[in-house]
Amino acid sequence: MEKPASASRTVMTQIIFPLDTNHHDTMFGGKVMEYMDKAAAIAAMRHARMQVVTASTDSLDFVAPIRVGEVIEVEAYVSWTNKSSMEVCVTVQSENLYTAERTTTVTAFFTFVALDDKGKPAKVPKVYPETEEEIRMFATAPERHELRMKRKRERQQPAKT
Ligand SMILES: CC(C)(COP(=O)(O)OP(=O)(O)OC[C@H]1O[C@@H](n2cnc3c(N)ncnc32)[C@H](O)[C@@H]1OP(=O)(O)O)[C@@H](O)C(=O)NCCC(=O)NCCS
Repeated sequence: MEKPASASRTVMTQIIFPLDTNHHDTMFGGKVMEYMDKAAAIAAMRHARMQVVTASTDSLDFVAPIRVGEVIEVEAYVSWTNKSSMEVCVTVQSENLYTAERTTTVTAFFTFVALDDKGKPAKVPKVYPETEEEIRMFATAPERHELRMKRKRERQQPAKT
């Protein structure tokens, strides 16, 4: 079975309060990552309709600060699938509620793995892209997958003393 990327699209909207910020009055990075991981997990479960775990996160690029009183919109969708794994594309946009100005603040790719009732990796439906952005992400995903596998292999090699 194949499902469109849009079927997993998940949008989470939050307003940033002082408790979400660091001593620079900008949003605490760990909090942004929590929201991203949650939105990505929902997108992966919407696609697989199974339990999922986070297998890895590619580099997270914080390109602009998020300030108190701004709204963030975390958007996630399954951009590519392999056998049991799903790549989820996540972007965070901040919005100034007074000026309506929107800024892309963070982007990242998460990999989730679907698990069966026994906790073993289970096959997921294939995803197909429709929009221009989805098509671009889908086309470039195998290359990112290869890099993740290379990183995993390198980590598994015993450290030289
Ligand atoms: C993710 C996990 C299930 C993979 O288990 P594993 O024994 O490595 O399983 P396999 O080698 O059979 O790989 C299963 C799938 O995971 C993918 N995978 C495993 N490690 C990966 C990594 N570091 N990055 C990306 N994908 C990964 C594999 O490519 C494979 O995908 P495919 O079926 O589409 O080919 C296992 O490592 C795990 O449970 N990790 C902990 C997850 C967790 O607790 N997350 C929350 C952390 S806070």
